Amino acid sequence: MATSNIVPEQEKPLSIVEKGWKTFHPTQYQGFWIHLEFFPGVLACREHFKACKDDIILNTTPKSGTTWLKALTFTITNRARHDFHNHPLLATNPHALVPFLEDLYSDGKIPNLTNLPSPRLFSSHLPYQLLPTSIIESNCRIIYLCRNPKDTFVSMWCFLNNFLPEDEPPVPMEEAFELFHGGISIFGPFWEHFLGYWKASLERPERVLFMKYEELKEDPTFHLRRLAEFLGCPFSIEEESEGLVEKIERFCSFESLTSLEVNKSGKTNRGYPNKNFFRRGIVGDWKNHLPAEMSEKLDQLSQQKLEAFGLTF
Ligand code: A3P
Repeated sequence: MATSNIVPEQEKPLSIVEKGWKTFHPTQYQGFWIHLEFFPGVLACREHFKACKDDIILNTTPKSGTTWLKALTFTITNRARHDFHNHPLLATNPHALVPFLEDLYSDGKIPNLTNLPSPRLFSSHLPYQLLPTSIIESNCRIIYLCRNPKDTFVSMWCFLNNFLPEDEPPVPMEEAFELFHGGISIFGPFWEHFLGYWKASLERPERVLFMKYEELKEDPTFHLRRLAEFLGCPFSIEEESEGLVEKIERFCSFESLTSLEVNKSGKTNRGYPNKNFFRRGIVGDWKNHLPAEMSEKLDQLSQQKLEAFGLTF
């Protein structure tokens, strides 16, 4: 069946959904909520993307540090190719260096990706359950990053409010919260997204690496070494002794990336301002936004959905 003929299985009345998120027009597909704008790309990449064993796929829930993970992984895997004075990240936003599969196949187009140098680096917000089957069958490496749902929610709420027309007030947090808590968020329910990758990482730890934003923030160099080892390119003794791990950490830090002109004034291929991908970059900012009852409600939900599987935040 041609991709363009496939229609979303089910749609919640937009009035309900738009009330809460406004700039996110979600449609439900196989149990997950997908932005209508991304839907053709999702279907096309599921149908046509052919993964290779050497590929590296970065997967995240939106607003869990995708931009940071892209910068880190690109820098680690290309460290022999680029030095810090003449590095692509100095003039290019991480999203342009590690494209989303959903974007590469946007509007149902089929790109030629066969000539890209190995290892090819791609990213996706797709849940594990919806990944193109060739990603699973090729046994390529998958790195998953997620984040405390409370910070993820606040980050998403702020991010989506950026897309409102200037004269529109921000969406009330209560409305967005009810939807997020009910599982309606970009590629949500967030707990199903987490669990798909969590279970895969337990089953195939040598091919699926599960990371948390909070842990990466707490000890970046430990996790950079972990990433490099997982990717089969551990830091050598020489690299360690010249402080390369710490240099990569600083080079990809929030402060460093936000100081670059490209991330202050540049735009993505979809025309989004790059600066919207950087807000505060801290752990626990939810405390400055989320009322106590919402925080408790989300904690309870996370426990109820995740704890039985050994996943906690
Ligand atoms: P906040 O909104 O909490 O500040 P994504 O890249 O998945 O869209 O996630 C965006 C979140 O990651 C934002 O969180 C953003 O500030 C944060 N972020 C972006 N770059 C970062 C970096 N280099 N280090 C830490 N956090 C970063």
